Amino acid sequence: MIPENTGPAAVIVLAAGAGTRMKSRTPKILHEIGGRSMVGHALLAARSISPRQLAIVVRHERDLVARHVAELDPAALIVDQDDIPGTGRAVEVALQALDAEQDLTGTVVVTYGDVPLLSGQLLAELVATHEREANAVTVLTADLDDATGYGRILRGEDGTVTGIREHKDASDAERLIREVNSGIYAFDAAVLRDALTHVTTDNSQGEKYLTDVLGLARKAGGRVAAVVTADRWQVEGANDRVQLSALGAELNRRIVEAWMRAGVTVVDPATTWVDSSVTLDEDVRILPNTQLHGATTVARDAVVGPDTTLTDVTIGEGAKVTRTHGSGAVIGAGAAVGPFTYLRPGTVLGDTGKIGAFYETKNVTIGRGSKLSHLGYAGDAEIGEDTNIGCGNITANYDGEKKHRTVIGSGVRTGSNTVFVAPVTVGDGAYSGAGAVIRKDVPAGALAVTVAAQRNAEGWVAANRPGTRSAELAQAATTDSSSTPASTEEGK
Ligand code: UD1
Ligand code: CA
Repeated sequence: MIPENTGPAAVIVLAAGAGTRMKSRTPKILHEIGGRSMVGHALLAARSISPRQLAIVVRHERDLVARHVAELDPAALIVDQDDIPGTGRAVEVALQALDAEQDLTGTVVVTYGDVPLLSGQLLAELVATHEREANAVTVLTADLDDATGYGRILRGEDGTVTGIREHKDASDAERLIREVNSGIYAFDAAVLRDALTHVTTDNSQGEKYLTDVLGLARKAGGRVAAVVTADRWQVEGANDRVQLSALGAELNRRIVEAWMRAGVTVVDPATTWVDSSVTLDEDVRILPNTQLHGATTVARDAVVGPDTTLTDVTIGEGAKVTRTHGSGAVIGAGAAVGPFTYLRPGTVLGDTGKIGAFYETKNVTIGRGSKLSHLGYAGDAEIGEDTNIGCGNITANYDGEKKHRTVIGSGVRTGSNTVFVAPVTVGDGAYSGAGAVIRKDVPAGALAVTVAAQRNAEGWVAANRPGTRSAELAQAATTDSSSTPASTEEGK
């Protein structure tokens, strides 16, 4: 995110508030929707209009918030609010910090860290209107059915905006107004700087209200106007977890709809959750109950789901991923995964390969066309091409202290229940017998067997489990087959 010098002079993101209604040890603006913190969404929207400077005002849980912001947007200026409360004071300290090098001129935009659906597009519209109309202040407003708690937009007879009245300071008549202040504005820097010096804490909350700037700007002869948005979600803040989930669901609805418009089939949008950081190609099909997180990417014609949760997984063209839980994995083109498969970080499945039911994989590279079809664990391993790993195979990679690697070549066929006791290497084209425990390297083309002779203790059941259903059936079977009843001696 490198700022270009094409947008407004600055965006100031307000984020000093306490957010007590979240009832959380995590600062409010660090709570996530769509796989990104609320302040992360706010910073992206702010950056998208390319401000020359970006400041964020912090106070509550200052260090946690500052660290998070520095990770997301190292160029953002972090400004500490002092003991004087209110949105006006927050903007004042930010302005002082931004002015420290050189006085800002031009447009200063103010947004909130807890309004995550605000789009860069709407911000750009606000700035464009503000500059086109040469306003002193342009405020983003919305008409709400229930305006309780919000500042109300006051308009004169001719409809021009004359000021904002906070809910707590409003008269009964003013409380009937449904047009509310979103708290998002474009200001002329000089007007803002001057007006803030006149803002007092003389109101019901004893705070410096940023909203007072509108009336002051008008008194000073400036034009004050509003941009009214019909999209209330874009101005909605999350104060508690009920609002957070409502905003999260709406964000998801928008993301999923955008992907459908871009050519992705989503069978059930209501149960499909896609982070804003995910990318999907045309003709991808997403089946119900699927969650795609982080840097997950899905290539053309792949089918994902149902009942699949993937984080940072790369899926190749035409692959099928069914009922799978995975993270940090790469699935090749035309490959198949699932159902009931657990892919852990470092899993790389080659093109047309397969990881089947009840398999767990971790840190394993599987070559093109190789199949691990059912029941097993493959970790810290490398498997060549066109190898078939039998049912129930396990790489015993951990000796209780260290992890060791298993290397299996190409064209290998392993018998059911083979255990690879790592470190061990199996050559190309080798076979293993059922139940083999591979402790020594297997040369290319060899058959590895670890056979212990089978012993049948005839009549053991009759002697040791008399009166059971097994004994009864065994008795019937031996009698029916007219063979001599077995001696019970052997089993004792
Ligand atoms: C504010 C507006 C109100 C508007 C509403 C929209 C004022 C006086 N009122 O009310 O007109 O309808 O937002 O949601 O501006 N903040 C700071 N420092 C502070 C106080 C707040 O940084 O000292 C930040 C908060 O973290 C938050 C934002 O400013 O992101 C708004 O603060 P909040 O207390 O929610 O303002 P409201 O009283 O709801
Ligand atoms: Ca609020």
